[in-house]
Amino acid sequence: MNIHVKNNIFWVGKRDWEVEHFHGKEYKMQRGTSYNSYLIKEEKKVLIDTVDLKFRTDFVKNLAEEIDLNTLDAIVINHAEEDHSGALAELLALIPDTPVYCTANGVDSINGHHHHPEWNFKVVKTGDSLDIGNGKKLIFVETPMLHWPDSMMTYLTEDAVLFSNDAFGQHYCDEHLFNDEVDQQELFDQCQRYFSNILTPFARLVTPKINEILGFNLPVSMIATSHGVVWRDNPTQIVELYLKWAADYQEDRITIFYDAMSSNTRMMADAIAEGIRETDPRVAVKVYNASVHDKNEIITSCFRSKGILVGSSTMNNVMMPKIAGMLEEITGLKFRNKRASAFGSYGWTGGAVDRVATRLQDAGFDMTIALKVKWRPDLSALEACREHGRSVAREWALSPLPAAAPAVAAETASASGVENGEGAQKMICSVCQWVYDPAEGEPGQDVAPGTCWEAVPDDFLCPGCALGKEVFDPYEG
Ligand code: FEO
Repeated sequence: MNIHVKNNIFWVGKRDWEVEHFHGKEYKMQRGTSYNSYLIKEEKKVLIDTVDLKFRTDFVKNLAEEIDLNTLDAIVINHAEEDHSGALAELLALIPDTPVYCTANGVDSINGHHHHPEWNFKVVKTGDSLDIGNGKKLIFVETPMLHWPDSMMTYLTEDAVLFSNDAFGQHYCDEHLFNDEVDQQELFDQCQRYFSNILTPFARLVTPKINEILGFNLPVSMIATSHGVVWRDNPTQIVELYLKWAADYQEDRITIFYDAMSSNTRMMADAIAEGIRETDPRVAVKVYNASVHDKNEIITSCFRSKGILVGSSTMNNVMMPKIAGMLEEITGLKFRNKRASAFGSYGWTGGAVDRVATRLQDAGFDMTIALKVKWRPDLSALEACREHGRSVAREWALSPLPAAAPAVAAETASASGVENGEGAQKMICSVCQWVYDPAEGEPGQDVAPGTCWEAVPDDFLCPGCALGKEVFDPYEG
């Protein structure tokens, strides 16, 4: 089975709908992936990359149906990670003398994976080319650390196709091969997730390397990646996105993530988020529990953010293990141009917050003062959290803040408003923070909308924690 790409270029890769993880369990794939391998049938027959190790037998069998393997003149390995060179040993067992074109580092990493130093390696460097007949050449461009030392791209002249390997790819599986044939939002999301979680550490290398490639002034009609789609509709759109993402990217967005032994640190996170939103309604605020939510989504959100707030309960004097893992990963990703602050609830020592703050500072974030709360935050502590959020919103604002919205004072509400419950005093449960809004009542207990707190029956129970009216306080939020 093949898919026609252009002229004499054919996709002979493998789709993987069911794969869920990559790099061990560290990268969760939401929409599978593909391992793209390309067969070029000019006067010379050339294979660009292979597929993942687990598909090696199917791949070689399929390739043998596409071409007499003995007529294959060259194999180009742009990158040796096993999702691209995984079928090489099985293929070369059948055609052992076939030249393998790769970088000098490629020889090392291919041998490191396959242990066949006797293979017929042809080492190439940037600018080297291979004439494949019919007036066409393959030109090689080394791209070290995008994302391995051995990485390179291969450009096919005349057809103007750039085989970019991992760069510009995404873990995305679709029955269609080309970028204009798939769901655009899904594609964008997976491109951004891939860049955020895999390429961010090398972002500083992306711009000069892209500029070097653009400097060759080669036309590009398609970018044929090794995962996901082939970019044929406006193929350089992904190059432009990479240039944008590599330039210390940030949006007007704040990510808050935490882990909590009980709900105390979560209550802080919610109150901080509220304070941010109150003060700067323009900013997107996203809150995640690191032990519940998809780690790669949290990292993608951090990548998009101008700043992050990281919360942890103190457990055995240190931070929660999930937060420690997140901070280790974030340190490796080398985010730049971002603010950060730590927060958390504690019982008898607050060691976690200090450790989180230190780790964030070591990871290169521009730090804002931390916030600790002892035990479960009461109303006054929650107000301190909201005020912390307001302060963060002001300090991290990307442009002057909008004028504050006029406050609604319950006590000045009109008589008719109070009758409807609009503007009447809201009440908050001091235990679980559920808020009673007179305008809404509590239909679950037959308390009609418009019922002020004084008229709520004495046997009313908080829907959040089942405690009585006596635990409620006036709510000023
Ligand atoms: Fe670097 Fe697709 O592996």
